[in-house]
Amino acid sequence: MPETSPVSSPDRSVLLDHVSIRFGNFTAVDNANLKINSGEFFSFLGPSGCGKTTLLRCISGFSEPTEGRVLIGAKDMKGVGPNKRPTALIFQHLALFPLMSVADNIAFPLEVRGVGKKMRRKRAEDLLDMIALPGIGDKKVSELSGGQKQRVAIARALAVEPDILLLDEPLSALDLKLRQHMRTELRAIQQQVGVTFIYITHDQGEALTMSDRVAVMSKGVIEQVGAPDQIYNRPRSSFVASFVGENNALKGIVKVQSEDMAALETPMGTFEARVGGGRKYKPGDEALLFVRPEQLVPGKAENAFQATLSRQEFEGATNHVFARAGDTDLRISMVNGGLAGSVGSTGDTMSLGFAPMNATILPVGQIASEA
Ligand SMILES: Nc1ncnc2c1ncn2[C@@H]1O[C@H](COP(=O)(O)OP(=O)(O)OP(=O)(O)O)[C@@H](O)[C@H]1O
Ligand SMILES: [Mg+2]
Repeated sequence: MPETSPVSSPDRSVLLDHVSIRFGNFTAVDNANLKINSGEFFSFLGPSGCGKTTLLRCISGFSEPTEGRVLIGAKDMKGVGPNKRPTALIFQHLALFPLMSVADNIAFPLEVRGVGKKMRRKRAEDLLDMIALPGIGDKKVSELSGGQKQRVAIARALAVEPDILLLDEPLSALDLKLRQHMRTELRAIQQQVGVTFIYITHDQGEALTMSDRVAVMSKGVIEQVGAPDQIYNRPRSSFVASFVGENNALKGIVKVQSEDMAALETPMGTFEARVGGGRKYKPGDEALLFVRPEQLVPGKAENAFQATLSRQEFEGATNHVFARAGDTDLRISMVNGGLAGSVGSTGDTMSLGFAPMNATILPVGQIASEA
C-alpha cells in the first residue's frame, strides 16, 4: 500500500443483536435490536427503572446479555472484559479524585496503562484545550465549578482514545442553567472528536437537543428509534406520544380508515387525524387520538369543538391554557402575541380546532404519566 493512502477511520458502530438481559425472572431489557452508527450521538431516553443503565453496562462489558449479542466495530464482544473494549464510561456520579490536580485526573487512565509522564502531561494539555479549559492542569479538582468538573470527567474518559463514549446521565447533578449550557458543549466535543456517543437520560430535552437519533424505552422495551423530530412528530406508540413532550389524549372508536387517515368518534365529536405507525384499524376498534397543546388553535374550523376555559398560566413567550371539554382536560399552548393575545377568562367558552395532519391516532396503550 502506498504511504500516502489515508488511514481508514475505525468502525465505531455498536450493534445490539436481539439483546435481552434478565435478573432471575425479571426482564430488565427485552429484545433490544438496533444499530448505532459510527460517529453518531445516540441517546436512550426513558423513565427511571426502564433498563437504561443495565443496557449501557452490557455495552461496556460490565455485564453480558442473557440472550443476544453485542457487536462493537462489527466484532462480537462476548467474553471481552470492560478493559479490553474500545469503550469508556462516564457514570451518573463522576468519580474524579478531588485532591489530585486536574491534569493528573485526566492522565490517570494513561498512568494505569504505563504511559510516561511527559506524554501524559502533553495529552492532558491537549484535552484541556479541547474542552475549552486551557491551562488549568495544575488546579485541584476541588477548586472547579460543577460544569468544569463535568468537562474534566469527559476529558479523562477521552484520554484513552475510546471509539465509543458511554455517558450515564452525566448532567443530572448540575443545576438547570448549567445542564442546558453543557448540552451545547457536549455536542460540540462529540463533533470535534468524532467518537460515537451513547448517552442515557430520562430528560427528553437533553435527548432531543443533542442527539442524531433517540431510542425511547419503557419497561425494558425499545418503543421507537428515530431522529428527534420523528420521535416528536411521528410517535408510533401511546407511550412515546405521551412521554416525549406534552400531549392531549382523546379516547374514541374508529369509524373509518382510508390509507393513513382515519376518523375517530370521541365524546367531544368525531375527528379526523393521521394514523400513526402504519396501523390498520377496523370500524369499532378503540384508539387514542393525540394532539399537542400547540396544535389546538382557537377558532379553527377543522376538527372543531367547544371547551370551557379552566385557567391560564402566563410564561413569557407562551400562554399555557387549561380547558375542559366534556370530561376531558386539555392543555393548550399559545404563543404570546402581547396584550391582544388574551383568550378570555375562567368559565368562558372557547371554540377550538386542529388540523387532521397535526394529530395522530394510535392504539390504546400505556400513557407515560400513568407509568
Ligand atoms: N443487579 C440487578 N439485580 C436485579 N435487578 C436489577 C439489577 N440491576 C438493575 N435491576 C433492575 O432492572 C431495572 C432497570 O434498572 P436500570 O438501573 O437499568 O434502570 P435505569 O433506566 O437506568 O433507571 P434510572 O433512570 O433510575 O437510573 C430496575 O427495575 C432495577 O431494579
Ligand atoms: Mg440508570
